[in-house]
Amino acid sequence: AEIKNISFSYLEYDSIDDLDGLYIKLIEEAKKASEDAYAPYSGFRVGAAVLLESGKIIRGSNVENAAFPSGICAERTAMSYSVSNFPGDKPSAIAIAAMNGNNFTYTPVSPCGNCRQMITEEEFRNNREIKILLYGENRILVIENAASLLPLQFNKEALNLYHP
Ligand code: THU
Repeated sequence: AEIKNISFSYLEYDSIDDLDGLYIKLIEEAKKASEDAYAPYSGFRVGAAVLLESGKIIRGSNVENAAFPSGICAERTAMSYSVSNFPGDKPSAIAIAAMNGNNFTYTPVSPCGNCRQMITEEEFRNNREIKILLYGENRILVIENAASLLPLQFNKEALNLYHP
């Protein structure tokens, strides 16, 4: 067998002020979205903000439910809204922030596997990288594209594979 290796690089910022103005704004919108989350069961309020090519910013938050699995994450709320309401306006970045109780988390929150899958679908079908900005009070991570967070991704190419 041959050993294969997958690795990726990302940026870590100590201060939000070192980011581009547009991305500072995007993170602020993600923080605003987390304030609007409906998360009475976990108390973990997550906010996402999707930046579209047009410059529009779409906010989404996690929406929980008494039937726990019926809840949805902030990232998928925001992505679904942008896909449904602004078709053709391709996402170019998504910022994510989260609050534990009334405080923003110290460490950045990373999207769950389900959300990575959905963000990657948009990235792949649009052939347009989606930058991922993960906010924490302590540091901010910037990842160039969603595919980096989902190595060996399952995507629609696989559905076209010929099976003898
Ligand atoms: N959650 C998100 O909204 N996004 C993430 O990236 C991680 C988890 C939500 C789901 C649930 O409502 C709460 O956070 C606790 O898991």
